[in-house]
Amino acid sequence: MQYRFGDKFKIFPALILIVLLAIPSLALAGHGDAKPVKKGILLAAFGSSMDEAQITFENIDKAVKKAFPDVPVRWAFSSAIIRNILAKNGRIVDSPVTAMSKMMDEGFTHVAVQSLHTIPGEEYSGIVETVKKFEGMPKGMTKVTVGKPLLFSDTDMRRTVKAIIANIPKDRKSKDAVVLMGHGTPHFANIFYPASQYYFAQADSKIFVGTVEGSPTLDDVKAMLAKSKSKKVYLMPYMSVAGDHARNDMAGDESDSWKSVLTKAGYKCVPVLKGSAEFPQVVDIWVDHLKVAFKHLGNN
Ligand code: CO
Repeated sequence: MQYRFGDKFKIFPALILIVLLAIPSLALAGHGDAKPVKKGILLAAFGSSMDEAQITFENIDKAVKKAFPDVPVRWAFSSAIIRNILAKNGRIVDSPVTAMSKMMDEGFTHVAVQSLHTIPGEEYSGIVETVKKFEGMPKGMTKVTVGKPLLFSDTDMRRTVKAIIANIPKDRKSKDAVVLMGHGTPHFANIFYPASQYYFAQADSKIFVGTVEGSPTLDDVKAMLAKSKSKKVYLMPYMSVAGDHARNDMAGDESDSWKSVLTKAGYKCVPVLKGSAEFPQVVDIWVDHLKVAFKHLGNN
């Protein structure tokens, strides 16, 4: 008889436990500082100061908002030089640190950051290192994930090759060459450019990849062009934005631009001033990478 009272009281701790498990956000919060899950997206690009390039960012913004209609989307440019030029013209774009801080203050607990870079080079690594620091900060974000840049896996390489080829001007004949100008870097991820050459060559033997600041160089491209026997060359940026490099180093009138050098070497050059991020099939690859990063945020 005397044990029956005790058995009844044992039900209460069990009930309290059930109630606490049912509302985990309240159960975990201390000092009445319950923080509901709030998910967001941060798009991080190198940036561009050119007005013509802004359409590229608008394109990406639209595609991301279409894929994530209920998630707030913020932007950051990782280049301080570009942010300063824009600021002088009255346009303020946040750095990745500032954008993340603002999102933290706005109560975002889970943020998927998408790198809008082409290769996993220095800029991409910088973004990863920076935004990851916000994960687990007291009263800060619970989880931060980063989507891969355009080129990362074998599948990305093949998809990108198809996407770029689909956007080569339609008047290009199969005997005409296409030269893609990549950025290039001393970072080991420069290897993605010679790798791209391999993948493009499998799809089209007259597409050549060169870089401004790495390898393959313009001389490498000239050697490949000579073997191709093509007379006409379409010059396209292999960069997200047709910015300074595309307009000056590739298509500019100075004697050392790719257009001038190749024209002097006897080729008829047709510059195409469109960044790869203007091609919807390319944007789809970044959006798919973002979907993976967003999924990895989990649900709590
Ligand atoms: Co550059």
